[in-house]
Amino acid sequence: MASEDNLHLLEIETELKLLAKEAGKTLLTYFGKPIHIEYKDSAQTDPVTEADKTVQDLLKTSILKSFPDHAVIGEEDQTGTNKTIPKYVWVIDPLDGTRNFSNGLRIFACSIGVLRDGIPIAGAIFIPTGNKGGDIVHAVIGKGAYLNDTAIKIPDRGSPESASLVGLPGSFHNYYQFTNRIKGEPRILGSIAYELAMVATGVLQYSALLGSLAIWDVAAGLIIIKEAGGNIKVGNKGKTKVIWSDFNSFYKQSAKNNVDVATLRKWHAPLIFGATGIVNLICQNLEYKFSWKRSLKNLFKI
Ligand code: IPD
Ligand code: CA
Ligand code: CA
Repeated sequence: MASEDNLHLLEIETELKLLAKEAGKTLLTYFGKPIHIEYKDSAQTDPVTEADKTVQDLLKTSILKSFPDHAVIGEEDQTGTNKTIPKYVWVIDPLDGTRNFSNGLRIFACSIGVLRDGIPIAGAIFIPTGNKGGDIVHAVIGKGAYLNDTAIKIPDRGSPESASLVGLPGSFHNYYQFTNRIKGEPRILGSIAYELAMVATGVLQYSALLGSLAIWDVAAGLIIIKEAGGNIKVGNKGKTKVIWSDFNSFYKQSAKNNVDVATLRKWHAPLIFGATGIVNLICQNLEYKFSWKRSLKNLFKI
């Protein structure tokens, strides 16, 4: 890596940690108090509060002040431009787990990831755990992952232990099944970034997020998992099975030099992450549950 990039990385790391702390502090000033909720969709499944918007503004303003030639993609922007994006892009979810937050459940996160040419290279996640002011889980490419100042490492297990906790979607048994029994008791946390932090810190032994995740849910967590020694697979849902491959970049090879903000905002995919052996085991043993609807669709090639 060019030394100019290294220097830049150092500036990014410093700013990231400061911003994650600041964002967390701001979120905690709202937490536990009555808060007005609006919905971004007519079905009222996608809530947003003043806390989401305030933290997004705070982060965006600070990032662009420090790095005017970088781009920022925030969940609450709700806009995409078709301008080609610069080398460095910050991807932020100011409050991940808004529903938990607005109901007073202390499981939420603020996620700040940095991409270089589409590849996650740095990330910090604020989680309201540990001491009163919360914790920061963070990583920079090639420098390892940390919980505050303590290095973290995901042990390379081959399969989940009997007493382990694992992340599976609430709707798992409606659509999927394992071909062999896989140990571990599922937990549904309600915040994807928090879940990534829990896998990185060894609280959960793996997580299979089988819905379509958004880029701001995972941009920070992916580099943290990678730097903690974990394995990440990205899924492509085929008609008869999900095809899993190693996650490397948010840019498709073919589109490498031609990506715009609007395209990046639309990135959606399922992910499995955790210890290398466990993730491989899950990918090998996961299958769609039989469904007449899918079978008829495949039969008539709809
Ligand atoms: C949501 C949370 C939740 C997940 C949803 C996300 P938000 O993010 O991560 O766990 O199930 O798909 O949209 O809206 O609270 O930022
Ligand atoms: Ca959010
Ligand atoms: Ca989110």
